[in-house]
Amino acid sequence: MHPSFPSSLEESLLTPRLCSACSDSEKADPASESHNDIPGEEEAVKEEEDKKEEENDSGMWDETFKTHTDSKPNGPSSVGLDFSLPGFEHVYGIPEHADNLRLRTTENTDPYRLYNLDVFQYELYNTMALYGAVPLLLAHNIQRTLGIFWLNAAETWVDISSNTAGKTLFGKMLQYMQGGGETPQTDVRWMSESGIIDVFLLLGPSPSDVFKQYASLTGTQALPPYFSLGYHQCRWNYNDEEDVRNVDAGFDEHDLPYDVIWLDIEHADGKRYFTWDPNKFPTPKNMLTGIKEKRRKMVAIVDPHIKVDSSYRIHSEIRSRNFYIKTKDGNDYEGWCWPGSAAYPDFTNPDMRTWWSSMFSYDQYEGSMDNLFVWNDMNEPSVFNGPEVTMHKDAVHWGGWEHRDVHNLYGLYVHRATAEGLIHRSGGKERPFVLTRAFFAGSQRYGAVWTGDNAAEWDHLKISIPMCLSLGLAGISFCGADVGGFFKNPEPELLLRWYQAGAYQPFFRAHAHLDTPRREPWLHGETNTNLIRDVLRERYALLPYWYTLFYNAHRDAEPVMRPLWVEFPTDVSTFAMDDQYMLGSGLLIHPVTEANAREVQIYLPGAGEVWYDVHNYQSYKAPQKFYLPVTMSSVPVYQRGGSIIPRKDRPRRSSDCMQADPFTLYVALDLQGNAQGELFLDDGHTFNYQQNEFVYRKFSYSQGQLTSR
Ligand code: NOJ
Repeated sequence: MHPSFPSSLEESLLTPRLCSACSDSEKADPASESHNDIPGEEEAVKEEEDKKEEENDSGMWDETFKTHTDSKPNGPSSVGLDFSLPGFEHVYGIPEHADNLRLRTTENTDPYRLYNLDVFQYELYNTMALYGAVPLLLAHNIQRTLGIFWLNAAETWVDISSNTAGKTLFGKMLQYMQGGGETPQTDVRWMSESGIIDVFLLLGPSPSDVFKQYASLTGTQALPPYFSLGYHQCRWNYNDEEDVRNVDAGFDEHDLPYDVIWLDIEHADGKRYFTWDPNKFPTPKNMLTGIKEKRRKMVAIVDPHIKVDSSYRIHSEIRSRNFYIKTKDGNDYEGWCWPGSAAYPDFTNPDMRTWWSSMFSYDQYEGSMDNLFVWNDMNEPSVFNGPEVTMHKDAVHWGGWEHRDVHNLYGLYVHRATAEGLIHRSGGKERPFVLTRAFFAGSQRYGAVWTGDNAAEWDHLKISIPMCLSLGLAGISFCGADVGGFFKNPEPELLLRWYQAGAYQPFFRAHAHLDTPRREPWLHGETNTNLIRDVLRERYALLPYWYTLFYNAHRDAEPVMRPLWVEFPTDVSTFAMDDQYMLGSGLLIHPVTEANAREVQIYLPGAGEVWYDVHNYQSYKAPQKFYLPVTMSSVPVYQRGGSIIPRKDRPRRSSDCMQADPFTLYVALDLQGNAQGELFLDDGHTFNYQQNEFVYRKFSYSQGQLTSR
């Protein structure tokens, strides 16, 4: 039994249901008594049996974890199902885990756990649960890609085994040649603590078919406002209005582009979200106006734990409307979080969501303006004094659902209500930007996700790639990791390498813990600042390409950042690669993620294809593996022959300042001398594209001529 596995769950999955009624009747069976005809021994056996039964029962009808008791008013329950995938050796998905892209077999570890948790200093290369959960698993081989979507929001575990695990390629070939090779097979066991079995098999056969099939069930990535693809500057905390002004000015002094400055929890008055600290942020509108004049934006945090304080309007309104989650006894559920004692709005209640959305109106959220956007954190939900730092499973939601049943959905509903609030405040015109930490299947419809509290360590930089790739496979394209690492203090080399990697990940935000020294990009010497400037400018130059990729994600469910095998589905050597990846179908990125790196090993896939180093246009015939020498300025990026990439090459202060700038098309010919590309363009912030107010150009180069339609 897995140590952290709820005993009742595994018992009831793996053995026929035990219940006190049937064990009583077994005991009454005279046949079973006949074995125990020696007096004294009979009692001992009975005692032993009772003890065993007690052990079996412990955790079934109520369960104690540290000081918390789960009352399980509905008794023990679980659902589970096994799937066998003959012919498949590579499985992916089921984010969020800090693990490689290709899922491991879990015969010798805990299964992958899906249970949204606020994990302090999470471990890497591990199947433990993190902040979000998408119960979608993909399997891929050279003939087919398929998906299993297990639609269940309760605590879920995924156990993976395979008949080829641990065998080398050589071993497998030998086995095959000796005629003893069985078909490779992966077995996947899904187990959820409550709910029903509601499972969708997505049969592909191509990767893009699976993405579309999954999107037909859960929706596609929301089209982000253009600015949100620029660079975001965050830390916990920018202290006051003057601090904000200085940091903003620092970017101009050092000629660094950026789009958004962020405010963490200290900006609010005593962590009462929707308010401003009267001493540190006395004139939020002046501050926001200053930012707006620079054609930039701000994001402020709004968490879902509400300070229990009768003089706080948000709290008293939620209480009077009876919108808080309840304890099993029917009182408002209270826990401990940033503001101290806090209660938790029931976002599963549609009326609660509508009310919450209305709080983002300019007349409700005082001091807010149209260039203020929102960050939802701690929405697993995080309850500092709850079991595993989250909510008790026997808490009760709208409609009588136990928290147990909807736990993994809570964060999605917070995100949704907030995104709808931003749409609502603009009268339905403007596209929202909301970042969330907790998520579930479908969260892509409401905005961006980040990978939570990572650390300033090289391995954390490295794992940001597979973590975002797994999210992308599960429909959530708008993903990023805290650049620089949240905990600890990155040395200048790590910080630079993180900027270089982050510039090629969809959500690009630097963030740092309250206790860390300042690390704005100009604080580590001129050389570092210059190198960070180079990569920020590259990010901005490629914004038209990023935006077009997001449009394709929005329209056709194509992941923006994709594993190599999605583009090269028959190249087995790419199936486990996660140190390099594709941005769309045109760019291959291999960030440097090692300290003191002198070289990196690059693999350029695609028989009969050609690639170009974007920095010097050197061409490489594929497939090819080679060591590329690197210096501190190296960010290995290759453009695929046959692609056309639109860029805007004039450096500016922010993305908004680039609006009227000319495009440059980078045409990289394939070996036949042809290339194709595309460009999506609209106003960058409204829903008007849904009324056909956009341009979607397809470019084509052949026989020496570039055409567009
Ligand atoms: C936890 C979040 O993960 C982190 O990014 C944030 O800075 C702190 N909460 C404080 O709000």
